[in-house]
Amino acid sequence: MELSAAIENRRSIRKFKPDQVPDDHIKAILEAARLAPSGSNLQPSRYVVIKSQEAKAKLAEHTLPFVTKAPVIIVCCTDSQVWSTAPERWTELKGSGAFNDNPLDVEKILEYKKKNPLDKETAKAYSWLNAAIAIDHMTLKAFDLGLGSCWIGILDREKTKEILELDDRYDVVALLPIGYPDQNPAPRPRLTLNEILLREL
Ligand SMILES: Cc1cc2nc3c(=O)[nH]c(=O)nc-3n(C[C@H](O)[C@H](O)[C@H](O)COP(=O)(O)O)c2cc1C
Repeated sequence: MELSAAIENRRSIRKFKPDQVPDDHIKAILEAARLAPSGSNLQPSRYVVIKSQEAKAKLAEHTLPFVTKAPVIIVCCTDSQVWSTAPERWTELKGSGAFNDNPLDVEKILEYKKKNPLDKETAKAYSWLNAAIAIDHMTLKAFDLGLGSCWIGILDREKTKEILELDDRYDVVALLPIGYPDQNPAPRPRLTLNEILLREL
């Protein structure tokens, strides 16, 4: 499918057919997330894939009811410990030739980052920003495979963490229920280009 067609025609899907989602489709969706860009290539996103009725039933009390009717739910998380992997990631990037055309003093950047660590809230915001990009990749890939999904921000994140027995280092960002659509929604309203374009210089 053309990327433009996917961007134009993807909708949030809130009603799913009971048909199972093939494992290779789930893998392809996770692969789309894995390929998403991230700041400093830190790749903070982590996922839990839920297919079992038992786990869905436990989640049901802590999010919107339709979510747990999806055959698959991907719980999208971030790992706060990736910040300590920055030296590895930057060195890896340099080794891959990322800065060949625009040389960067990686040692200096790392030294600066070490001396000026981000505060907890800013670090979390950056991680969630990266998670959002990966989630968008997943919604588009799901659509490309004939599947529907809906980004879910309404959930009890702490309870979800408890149910999934996730360590404190992880943050739950969103749920992504996925399945074959049992609805064909019209495009949802959007602001016009004039309303979102502040200025052209
Ligand atoms: C960050 C974020 C959080 C969202 N949370 C929810 C949610 O909790 N429940 C829900 O039904 N839809 C949720 N949505 C879906 C939006 O309502 C939807 O994207 C928007 O209305 C536009 O519709 P469309 O995706 O079909 O174009 C969320 C979307 C985003 C990007």
